[in-house]
Amino acid sequence: MRPLAFACLVAIVVFGACAESGPTDADYLEGREVYGTCAACHGGNGQGGAGPALAMVRETFPDCADHVKWVSLGSKRWKDTVGTTYGAASKPIEGVMPEFGESLTADQLKQIALYERVRFGEADLDSEKEACGLD
Ligand code: HEC
Repeated sequence: MRPLAFACLVAIVVFGACAESGPTDADYLEGREVYGTCAACHGGNGQGGAGPALAMVRETFPDCADHVKWVSLGSKRWKDTVGTTYGAASKPIEGVMPEFGESLTADQLKQIALYERVRFGEADLDSEKEACGLD
């Protein structure tokens, strides 16, 4: 089997999708890598599961910095430090989202937000990189 085909097969098993195509930007690719941690709850294609689907993520967090903050704090610390609702539409926090501020670097938090916004929220890669502070 060709190495690329094999990598694709592994991706299908692990992420539920083969993303052989798509942007080749280094920040986007790092975000895609880290998204493996999130896929268990948000789905390989952002379709949701234990956590919500991510297609509306830019409506929830119009500002990338808030998206990064949410992922960094997780639902419990967000509740303790920000409030009992999150996002532009003040969604009530009802589930449990782990915090990632300790396990991911500041750059990885931005890269994961970039990946989710571009892949699932259909944002433009270049302008979103700037909005997430990755240019
Ligand atoms: C254990 C399950 C779980 C994992 C793992 C997880 N999340 Fe979540 N996530 C949730 C839940 C549950 C919510 C909704 C919180 C609520 O309603 O209380 C959420 C909400 C979100 C939202 C807001 C979406 C919206 O539009 O409302 C984003 C963005 C998000 N998570 C990103 C991530 C990222 C990035 C990762 C990986 C680094 C991740 N999540 C890992 C469970 C999880």
